[in-house]
Amino acid sequence: MKVKGIKIVEGTSADKEQLTESFQHFNDKNIIKNRADCYLSHNNTILAKDGNRIIGKILWYIKEDPNFGVVEFEELYVYDDYRKKGIGSELLRISIEAVCDHFNQLGIKPRRIFLFVDENNQSARKLYEKFGFECIANLGHLYSENNNYLFYILDLEKTN
Ligand SMILES: CC(C)(COP(=O)(O)OP(=O)(O)OC[C@H]1O[C@@H](n2cnc3c(N)ncnc32)[C@H](O)[C@@H]1OP(=O)(O)O)[C@@H](O)C(=O)NCCC(=O)NCCS
Repeated sequence: MKVKGIKIVEGTSADKEQLTESFQHFNDKNIIKNRADCYLSHNNTILAKDGNRIIGKILWYIKEDPNFGVVEFEELYVYDDYRKKGIGSELLRISIEAVCDHFNQLGIKPRRIFLFVDENNQSARKLYEKFGFECIANLGHLYSENNNYLFYILDLEKTN
């Protein structure tokens, strides 16, 4: 990482207020209010912090039966002023490591991580591909009528 003093940590209830602020793009007060709670209670939240300030985040959670060893990544985000300094890469690297550690500790083989990304989001696509994610399907207008979404998978059995 090219920025000194940035740390990558697991989100806790102490981060709730700042996390809530980071969901303003949802434009719905109820969703915004519940989202941080959901993040911190049901999912795994990894944060990049400059001092006490959140400047990046990613969420991961286990899909279906934990024995499948499958995880979804969501909401990778680095705040504007901090982009292109390696923070997104570090969030991704640590999250992949956390997923593998989690399953290994349970005696379950980590198998796949998947995510959805807008076809036009070249920076995110390049980043995922750098970590070995592969685009395996075009899902068309999944979240909006204007954009195509791609389904990316990281095969942990190939990389470990
Ligand atoms: C995508 C995002 C998380 C990248 O974060 P970042 O901290 O800037 O990423 P890094 O500095 O670690 O860059 C990692 C790689 O991403 C790619 N990348 C990042 N910014 C890029 C840009 N503007 N154009 C092209 N590639 C880019 C490069 O491959 C880069 O690797 P390199 O430095 O070896 O060339 C950030 O741009 C962001 O938050 N975007 C808005 C939210 C978003 O689109 N999230 C993804 C949702 S699926």
